[in-house]
Amino acid sequence: MQAKAPPPIAMLAELTHRCPLSCPYCSNPVEMAKLDSELDTETWTRVFQEAAALGVLQLHLSGGEPASRRDLVALVKSAREAGLYTNLITSAIGLSERRLNDLDEAGLDHIQLSLQGTDAVMADKVGGYRGGFDRKMKTVEWIKQIGFPLTLNFVLHRHNAHQLPRALELAQEMGARRIEVATVQFHGWALKNRDALMPTREQAQQVTQLVTEARKILKGQLVIDYVPADYHDDYPKRCMGGWGTTGLNVTPDGQVLPCHAAQSIPHLTFDRVQDKPLADIWYNSSAFNAYRGTGWMSDPCKSCERKTIDFGGCRCQAMAIVGDASATDPVCIKSPLHRALQDQANEHAANSDAPFFYRISPGKATEPAE
Ligand code: SF4
Ligand code: FES
Repeated sequence: MQAKAPPPIAMLAELTHRCPLSCPYCSNPVEMAKLDSELDTETWTRVFQEAAALGVLQLHLSGGEPASRRDLVALVKSAREAGLYTNLITSAIGLSERRLNDLDEAGLDHIQLSLQGTDAVMADKVGGYRGGFDRKMKTVEWIKQIGFPLTLNFVLHRHNAHQLPRALELAQEMGARRIEVATVQFHGWALKNRDALMPTREQAQQVTQLVTEARKILKGQLVIDYVPADYHDDYPKRCMGGWGTTGLNVTPDGQVLPCHAAQSIPHLTFDRVQDKPLADIWYNSSAFNAYRGTGWMSDPCKSCERKTIDFGGCRCQAMAIVGDASATDPVCIKSPLHRALQDQANEHAANSDAPFFYRISPGKATEPAE
């Protein structure tokens, strides 16, 4: 019999799929939750209390753009009252000085700011939002004044990989304690943009080298988290720390997912916070138990010495590329599709003229001009 799962440490609350930006790398699903299906303040408050009782320590308030929620301050307050550490994942659009002060008063612990590029030309093009970079820089000044602990999240791809050195400088200028250098992961909407965003193998190697060197030079000043370009790698990432082991996601309309892309696995069904307590969903739901542990594996993972290190990689990537969520992640060198994936990655990366397919948020009518 399989041992009972440990409680989750972190919860990602996707407060809304609405967003003023239109990033082509967005990992939100292609079918986004509509405004009138979003959970209300009261329900989120109950969910935060249930999460804390279940053992969750960290709450990541995300989206879309969480600042698009008018009740953001009230939500932060209720999460802090429930005893959760609160991290706001934001593009900064929608955060005024006054709102940041209100968030501070409500007890917000930390801000994670996304960076689409290190100058207005790149950032506004990638985000599909003119003037976004300048507004972000203004917001950073207020964040510094208030003294929020800050992490910068630089989503890196073929168009902006050369800006990594400047992104590291910017993080220090902003007083960030940490930067996440996250090579784009091709889930949800981003899957449409593999031709436009896939870094070349050479870029991926250069970035890895730069991160290794920067970690030595900036030790004690800036922590660098790194998500490499896994299509060019030989071993997969331990996605979500292992399915159903450390974290859970709640969608804007209340579905509870083992990872942000789990809705791409068509045979899974997801319980909703409106219908069941969070603890019941975490321990007993079929979706959370589908790929927990190692019992679901077949070879090569089943007999592999790394199976409790990476848990076979990413289930959603196996679904997207192999068409079978229980297959070995094709990033793995032991997967029969590993070579084909690497060839595919090189083909995507060679598409120098590929256009961006911008994500259009619920409520937005048109695509932004590049
Ligand atoms: Fe990981 Fe499976 Fe590859 Fe082994 S065979 S390294 S467990 S993905
Ligand atoms: Fe779903 Fe990796 S994103 S398991």
